[in-house]
Amino acid sequence: MDTFVCGKCGYIAFGQAPDACPVCGALKQAFKLDPNAIKKPTDPANLNDLEKKHIPVIEIKRQCGLVGPGCVDANIKIGQILHVMEAKHYIMYIDLYHDYNFIGRYHLSPEKLNPVLGIHLKVTSGRLTVLENCNLHGRWVAEAVI
Ligand SMILES: [Fe+2]
Repeated sequence: MDTFVCGKCGYIAFGQAPDACPVCGALKQAFKLDPNAIKKPTDPANLNDLEKKHIPVIEIKRQCGLVGPGCVDANIKIGQILHVMEAKHYIMYIDLYHDYNFIGRYHLSPEKLNPVLGIHLKVTSGRLTVLENCNLHGRWVAEAVI
């Protein structure tokens, strides 16, 4: 699927560029098609340590103790080897998509936050895409079927 990058905030649109960026409001002209916007593992079946530290891990839970029936939880961790959160090297944000439509962006500050996130979805089917952006190593993605 084509990936378009917002030149202002780095948001990635899947499929086509939106009329306006849902994160920063930049107009369509600010988006550029970039097939290399997201890093890919060399061998998905045999990840190296850098890839293990950056590719999100998603755990879907169908029973939510906070909201109740109809709420699907997703626990997200960057990555299977937890990524460092230091001033010079950290996960800047995690972007979430449902069926490739943007849901929201979670900004992380390196001082107080671990690179993990729990979300509560009002959907019970479809595909959750999680994209993280490391300030040194770029964007990485993982997906889960809900
Ligand atoms: Fe990194």
